[in-house]
Amino acid sequence: MSLPTTTDLYHDFVIPTYGRFDLELVRGEGTRVWDESGKSYLDFGAGIAVCSLGHAHPAVTKALSEQAGKLIHISNLYLNRPQAELARKIVGFVGLGGKVFFCNSGAEANEGLYKLARKFGSPTGRYEIITFSNSFHGRTLGGISATAQEKVKVGFAPLVEGFLHVPFNDLAALEEAITPKTAAILLEPIQGEGGINPATAEFLRGARDLCDRHNLLLLFDEIQCGLGRTGDWCAWRSIVPEGVEPDGISWAKGIANGYPLGAFWVGKRLAGADSEGSERGPLCNLLGPGTHGTTYGGSPLCSTVGLTVLSTIEQENLLENARTMGAYLKSSLEDLNLPAIRQVKGIGLMLGIELNDMPLVEGVAVTPALRMTKELMAAGMLVIPSGERTIRLLPPLNISKAEADEALALLTKVLKD
Ligand SMILES: Cc1ncc(COP(=O)(O)O)c(C=O)c1O
Repeated sequence: MSLPTTTDLYHDFVIPTYGRFDLELVRGEGTRVWDESGKSYLDFGAGIAVCSLGHAHPAVTKALSEQAGKLIHISNLYLNRPQAELARKIVGFVGLGGKVFFCNSGAEANEGLYKLARKFGSPTGRYEIITFSNSFHGRTLGGISATAQEKVKVGFAPLVEGFLHVPFNDLAALEEAITPKTAAILLEPIQGEGGINPATAEFLRGARDLCDRHNLLLLFDEIQCGLGRTGDWCAWRSIVPEGVEPDGISWAKGIANGYPLGAFWVGKRLAGADSEGSERGPLCNLLGPGTHGTTYGGSPLCSTVGLTVLSTIEQENLLENARTMGAYLKSSLEDLNLPAIRQVKGIGLMLGIELNDMPLVEGVAVTPALRMTKELMAAGMLVIPSGERTIRLLPPLNISKAEADEALALLTKVLKD
């Protein structure tokens, strides 16, 4: 009797939540991954913006194995130095003071921000959070309630109360949506799952101004766009270098190269008075003992990996590489002037190629994004579809010019065909 294939095992034993490609990957190195037949692929998805340093980076492997031999986990009832150091590093990157909480995923990091907003608004009965069309904030009940894309909500009613969605980059609509119940505004400075849509500088400045005028929290979901992908530690600073300061930020994905780790930062502005009229101190101390927690968050192991990833980005000057390689890829793609390309979007190494309509293949209706993703895969390159007509390029931050050129050659060939 022959052994079941991996596809058979998935079919029989794994809950089918993902529309997976029939591609089994077994090994990676740098910007390349290999399937079980030995075929190699240029990985311009990097696990959906996760593997910032590429696959099997020696610094990550060393940090992971050395720390695993020392101390993997202790309870958050005790102190561990790597967590404290990682918090200090991240607070330094944000550059506005404040403090960090560690968790395990992006959705969980956002959950922390929702709770922060509720706690902040509770003395005055404010709990609503405004989010934006095409946003994506994760798959927990809170996450799908915050996400404006309707498809993630279907069948899961009743959703968590208190999330409102307004058109992205529309300041007038945002202002109109604010009510006496509003506590916070949450946005992705560059929307990832929604098709690589950067916020405009005017929108970010206007959102900050509305938050100041109405005493609301400005929260940035930088889970996909943050920590170096745009060529800046803070993605919003790639759009407005100065003058916009958020009150909370969430991260995950690229923070630890694929080792599960999420985090959120809270600023130091004053939180205002409680319902008895006593001042509550800085916002970053509002979630006090007993208000929030998670078993694994900030373990010695994940914190060591996070520290290693962020330090390596610094040491290898990868913010600059993300800026130069990103600009090179973007302008080269624009210069191609191919009929298949409607526009090239994004900042740094968070790029989207929006595609024009394509003829059907043998009468099969697939979206342009899915079709291109499959054709590129067959040609030896991995990209990530986003919505119906955008393919995302999210390569490791340390890609070389030769790898960028290889990607451009493959994209040109497939898009021309
Ligand atoms: C902007 C954004 N927020 C939140 C999430 C959810 O993160 P996770 O899948 O780690 O829960 C994602 C994941 O794609 C994301 O892109």
